[in-house]
Amino acid sequence: MKIALTYNLKKKDDTKPADYFSEYDSEDTIGSIVSALKTKGHNVETIDVEYPKLFSYFSKNNVDMVFNIAEGIRGKFRESEVPAILDYLNIPYTGSGTFSLALALNKALTKKILRAENIPTPNFQLFSRGNEELDPLLKFPLIVKPNCEGSAKGINKTNVVGNEDDLFKKVKEIIDKYHQDALVEEFIEGKELTVGVLENGRTRVLPILEIDFSDCNASGEYFYSWRMKEYQGDRVLGLIPSFHCPARLDKETEEIVKEAALKTHRAVGCLDISRTDIRLDKNNVPYVLEINPLPGLDPKESNFPIMAYAAGMKYEDLIEAIILSASERKRLN
Ligand SMILES: Nc1ncnc2c1ncn2[C@@H]1O[C@H](COP(=O)(O)OP(=O)(O)OP(=O)(O)O)[C@@H](O)[C@H]1O
Ligand SMILES: [Mg+2]
Repeated sequence: MKIALTYNLKKKDDTKPADYFSEYDSEDTIGSIVSALKTKGHNVETIDVEYPKLFSYFSKNNVDMVFNIAEGIRGKFRESEVPAILDYLNIPYTGSGTFSLALALNKALTKKILRAENIPTPNFQLFSRGNEELDPLLKFPLIVKPNCEGSAKGINKTNVVGNEDDLFKKVKEIIDKYHQDALVEEFIEGKELTVGVLENGRTRVLPILEIDFSDCNASGEYFYSWRMKEYQGDRVLGLIPSFHCPARLDKETEEIVKEAALKTHRAVGCLDISRTDIRLDKNNVPYVLEINPLPGLDPKESNFPIMAYAAGMKYEDLIEAIILSASERKRLN
């Protein structure tokens, strides 16, 4: 198959904020996906989707399939930019479509759908101006997050707040810095889990990944913050989470966690691949934090490949499964 890999490239640019490129992919990740596709016999070309390269590429080239990992550039629907163009040009691509990508990037809207589907998600309130009255039913500690971001951008330990003063300061900071709404959620103490769904003929839920931060105390960080993700594995900084896949859960809990992830994948309308982030509270209720339809695919660092390896897959099998699932959809259309 002739495949075009669409991506946004992580760059070095000291004039930009430290987390500016966090959602984007490294040359290593892009190189690994290209090698995996070539191993499976495909002909591959790569396209950094930075405007206007995408248009010029597709006006000159025909491809059978686009392997899309592009996070997009502008605004609240950025992850939908590339799929929208590919839909317009009638070019098949891997992964979720425009609607699901835009929906999943909006955490509050996704949570409303989860609520309607009876999938537990932390109680929340959305702040657009920053001077709204706090819902008295919300219980501290609360966490404040940008409503439409990923890679834990804008999230560090000071985002977990124990009183109204700190809450409103953080809400204002997020609105000003990220030019978007601030999502305030009850902070769920408990195990951090992430669950991969992969479709390849049949839909399967991969072994659950548990991320344990108890060895990170020296760093001052205790959850999957931006620093934890960005510098994961840095011993000097003490940012050394441990990964357990499958997660250390009893059978019954494992089943309810997997079911929550699968229901979330379907409720949001994701295709081929997704990764749902969950926190288990002390009563083993799996609270869905969010779903990632474009999960990181770095073969060494990212959560999704760890889960695929635990299911007995090699990296190239994971990449090929995504292609096969998208090809099956193309065949049926
Ligand atoms: N309500 C919550 N209760 C407890 N921890 C939370 C909550 N919300 C977020 N966190 C912590 O912050 C991390 C990042 O939050 P979240 O997954 O919502 O952000 P993101 O930027 O979309 O992440 P990703 O990197 O997966 O795209 C979570 O993995 C978790 O460790
Ligand atoms: Mg997350």
